[in-house]
Amino acid sequence: MTFELTEEQLAVQEAARDFAQNVLRPGVIERDTKMEYPTEQIRQMGELGFLGMMVSPEYGGGGMDTMSYVLAMEEISKVDNSCSVIMSVNNSLVCWGIETFGTEQQKAKYLPKLASGEWIGSFCLSEPEAGSDATMQRTTAIEKDDHYLLNGTKNWITNGGTSKLHLVVAQTHPELGHRGINVFIVEADTAGVVIGAKEDKLGIRSSDTHTIMYNDVKVPKENRIGEDGFGFKFAMKTLSGGRIGIAAQALGIAGGSYELSLAYAEERKAFGKAIIKHQAIAFKLANMAMDIEAAKLLVYRAAWLKDNNMDYTSASSMAKLYASEAAMKHSVEAVQVHGGYGFVKEYHVERLMRDAKITQIYEGTSEIQRVVIARNIEKGHHYVPTLGKSAVSV
Ligand code: CAA
Repeated sequence: MTFELTEEQLAVQEAARDFAQNVLRPGVIERDTKMEYPTEQIRQMGELGFLGMMVSPEYGGGGMDTMSYVLAMEEISKVDNSCSVIMSVNNSLVCWGIETFGTEQQKAKYLPKLASGEWIGSFCLSEPEAGSDATMQRTTAIEKDDHYLLNGTKNWITNGGTSKLHLVVAQTHPELGHRGINVFIVEADTAGVVIGAKEDKLGIRSSDTHTIMYNDVKVPKENRIGEDGFGFKFAMKTLSGGRIGIAAQALGIAGGSYELSLAYAEERKAFGKAIIKHQAIAFKLANMAMDIEAAKLLVYRAAWLKDNNMDYTSASSMAKLYASEAAMKHSVEAVQVHGGYGFVKEYHVERLMRDAKITQIYEGTSEIQRVVIARNIEKGHHYVPTLGKSAVSV
């Protein structure tokens, strides 16, 4: 067992930290307040290679491992979670989904644009009546001649207003239930794609979240991903990896809350000494540090399992569940450590607290993560304490 990062991983971590602290931090409060999309920041993230980190160099990506992606997500999420969710959806849902399951033609056509950030992608699964219960797809894709005719509405779509490529999940053969679902690449400028108003959200306010309507949208047959009926499995497999990205985002929120609290507690004085010298505050920091370490082990381990081609379904749900609970709990504590200052925007922790909430909701709520973990236990796919080479049974 080794806990050391490679030289390359350390370099990625440092580059992401530098970018987050020096480029993202200066305007993050204003963007959040105004719900302003981080156009310039996302352009720079594309240039620096943060938008297609795991995409093979053959298609213009960084060819990096999941661990490097997690480290970059963590650093960026300490500061700007609107940027990190845009990054996460593009990397682990859209690029990974296309590269893993797409045809050679789909990969060659779309990945270079997505990996460079020239195009941003969105993952269109949720519907007004299909959130946690993702099999209940009302959007339909009916096969006609050389195309599918797509009709329906998707909700809460991250990158909904800016993405040029949508991965749309739709019911193609209603009589087959979830086995009749397919996923399609839809270019956003296709006739019949209508983007609703930008949502006014509690957190991640400068990311753009929209409802999208598809009205008789003609999707070429070659834009279906995988075999007929593969769409639900595509969504589940892709989300298993996506959840590692959101777990890293939550880890970053917890880590950012801790770093800001520690700096403040060392500086701020009350009753004649720095507040970190008061046990009431020191214990809060101790609890934060412990939970962050525990979350880190789960998140890094899920990334390691994925990088080593082992089953990571349950591990990614555990990582997301634990890290998002830690992010929520400790961002609230960070506001408390800051007292009155914590309640105003200038000190950054109230934003992290608002951003933390969504990590318990998107890419599967905490309740859904427990469903996934419990079902894997039932199937015997659970962690067992071993003295041997691997602590996972698959
Ligand atoms: N990998 C491969 N296949 C899987 C799978 C996985 N991880 N999980 C399930 N499946 C397969 C099953 O084997 C089954 O296939 P067969 O019938 O052929 O055997 C099929 O999928 C249906 O599985 P279930 O019976 O378990 O399905 P279910 O209806 O009980 O739902 C669920 C399972 C885990 C609850 C699922 O619906 C789910 O994950 N819901 C949450 C949806 C979600 O995460 N939404 C996030 C929206 S995207 C987003 O938030 C992005 C963003 O913008 C930030």
